[in-house]
Amino acid sequence: MDKSLDADARADLMIHEMTLDEKIQLVHGAGWGVLRAGAPVATGHNGGAGFVPGIPRLHLPDINLADSAVGVRMAAPESRYATLLPSVIGMAASWDPDAAFLYGSVIGRELRAQGYNMSIGGGMDLIREPRNGRNFEYASEDPILAGTMVGQVARGVQSNHVMGDIKHYAVNDQETGRNILNAVMDKRTLRETDLLAFQIAIEMAHPAGVMCAYNHINGDYACENDYTLNQVLKKDWGFQGFVLSDWGGTHSTVKAALAGLDMDQPGDDNFFSDPLKKAVQDGTVLQARLDDMVHRIVRSMFVNGVIDQPPMPRSVVDPFSGRDDAQKIEEESLVLLQNTGGILPLAAAKTKSIAIIGGHADKGVLSGGGSAQVDSPGGNAIAPGPGSSPWGRAIYFPSSPMRYIGEQAAAGTQITYDAGSDPAQAAKAAASAQVAIVFVTQWMTEGQDSATLSLPDKQDDLVAAVAAANPNTIVVLENGGPVNMPWAGHVKGIVESWYPGIGGGEAIANILFGRVNPSGKLPVTFAATEDQLPHPKVTGLTERTGNNADAVTRNQPRARPVEFPVDYNVEGMAVGYRWFQEKNLKPQFAFGFGLSYTRFAYSNLKVDADAPNHGMSVSFDLRNTGAQAGDEIAEVYVTLPSAAGEPFRKLAGWKRVSLAAGASQPVTVALDPLYLSIYSPDTDKWSRPAGEFLIEVGGSSAELPLHSTVRLAAQ
Ligand code: BGC
Repeated sequence: MDKSLDADARADLMIHEMTLDEKIQLVHGAGWGVLRAGAPVATGHNGGAGFVPGIPRLHLPDINLADSAVGVRMAAPESRYATLLPSVIGMAASWDPDAAFLYGSVIGRELRAQGYNMSIGGGMDLIREPRNGRNFEYASEDPILAGTMVGQVARGVQSNHVMGDIKHYAVNDQETGRNILNAVMDKRTLRETDLLAFQIAIEMAHPAGVMCAYNHINGDYACENDYTLNQVLKKDWGFQGFVLSDWGGTHSTVKAALAGLDMDQPGDDNFFSDPLKKAVQDGTVLQARLDDMVHRIVRSMFVNGVIDQPPMPRSVVDPFSGRDDAQKIEEESLVLLQNTGGILPLAAAKTKSIAIIGGHADKGVLSGGGSAQVDSPGGNAIAPGPGSSPWGRAIYFPSSPMRYIGEQAAAGTQITYDAGSDPAQAAKAAASAQVAIVFVTQWMTEGQDSATLSLPDKQDDLVAAVAAANPNTIVVLENGGPVNMPWAGHVKGIVESWYPGIGGGEAIANILFGRVNPSGKLPVTFAATEDQLPHPKVTGLTERTGNNADAVTRNQPRARPVEFPVDYNVEGMAVGYRWFQEKNLKPQFAFGFGLSYTRFAYSNLKVDADAPNHGMSVSFDLRNTGAQAGDEIAEVYVTLPSAAGEPFRKLAGWKRVSLAAGASQPVTVALDPLYLSIYSPDTDKWSRPAGEFLIEVGGSSAELPLHSTVRLAAQ
């Protein structure tokens, strides 16, 4: 307890006093607890997804872990409130590291107020599969954008003396068959894409935990994968925290312990209890390895202050500041995808009647399901009632877009609502109004992917019918990830709101009426058709298995589930927008794209390749040429010399800049040398290739007005 010593020394002193049983107690959870009906709940368990009992005689507190991908899950059983933030993919659409930090701070603040000392949020898997059910928990198809934003979230969490986590390490890029699939990816691709995202976040945030995934990676389960855990995470990146398994993701004792797993969760499978003790006693797992596991856990507790500044479970969450923060982040995350004829922002004085259609927009906004599900205050807004929000149902939060549209419309504006269940009736409502706003929803959840990119429940027919009836149709999307919009050419406005969070209704209205100038940009490509994708169908999703991850695995008692490969070498490093460029395909909406109510002009590009850190410094002038203030996300892409074998541009940096109408500003973006380098599996090293580098700058991956080439030597 001597605070003058560093975390490692304090951990070692404590470990010195521990018995073998106490050490074993720390490296596994206390079972499924509240997650599974009938499972015992240990004393001291705070009601979250995980619990590791502490050692009171040594002043080592319990570890209470809570799912908190988009806000704290499982708050309701104790009548505790939690803020629903916008989805992670939405937060990433802000391209604003400060918004990401704020996002994590809200989570950390509320975890602490509820007595939790560890978050198990931090979704970091790359969006390789646009139909992945968990894309709303992940940030981007680009490793640098994803790594930077999720790294900032983890920093924000940990700024509250709460241990942070990054998951699911690694390549848990689809839900279908997640417990059995084998993600196949060559080493160079791994290091330059999926693992690069983790590397960036981990080196930036030093999270306490890294959660290993359910799937195999190149043959070995992620939680017993010597390459990804020992060699890359711990050796190359110097990760000093602990690796914890996804819930039920441990498959062995000795293999997992030797491969680098430090904590088995939730621990009822007995791999890291008596069997580990026996393995240590008979020397199959060295005592030093067990001490290393415990050291990693205890030092993380010291480093993050959970021992010196434990959470205050009796304080309460401040719902108002949470809501304001959620709204602020959402206002930066909304992406204006289409604005034909400048239909938006709506001029309140000139808009006499508005037909609002679909998406339960009279009641609230949609949220994503699974372990990221936050409890909606008052229950599901479309069927209010007490209790928590269950895993398998589409849950709406009480932030009604219609209410806020009503508040911003001029007095006397006629506003109607139609549920949208009958396209003909909706068209009738639309025909009698000046403007029609259709809310479309795509509910996504952990445990299952969408079979297609199409909106469910025939909503495409609904939009088409409304658009045919009203020339001033605007569509607002509430969705987990990319969707097809076959009606895009027939509507005037399209606003992407993701799952917008508890401040969503107001944020959407603020964008529609122009109180907020939209500034988000897509962190993922929206394909025009599924044929354009490297995997036109979700691998392993067949009629027999359906799209349910667990049906593919656990719930087939008679048919032993068969492991299947997902071959990510098909697209390899050409993930997302890079694939579209390499194959010369035109997506529906490109990565990095997003409109504003003003316009920006780029000029005067200068590239300094002798930047002091041996990266590159890219500068240019940015001018707001429109009539109102706005934020622009200026994006910098690099195409490496042809010898690198990567014939596509890659995002290498960006800056979010606020400019008053008519103002202009010099902008400098520093490019990290790592982002100009390639990884060689032969030498196991990163190096900058020699030759001509193409630097491009602009406001979307598909529109880059500035470019320059520089010839550089190898480095
Ligand atoms: C999910 C994890 C989650 C865990 C605990 C698993 O099903 O994959 O993301 O943290 O459950 O709820």
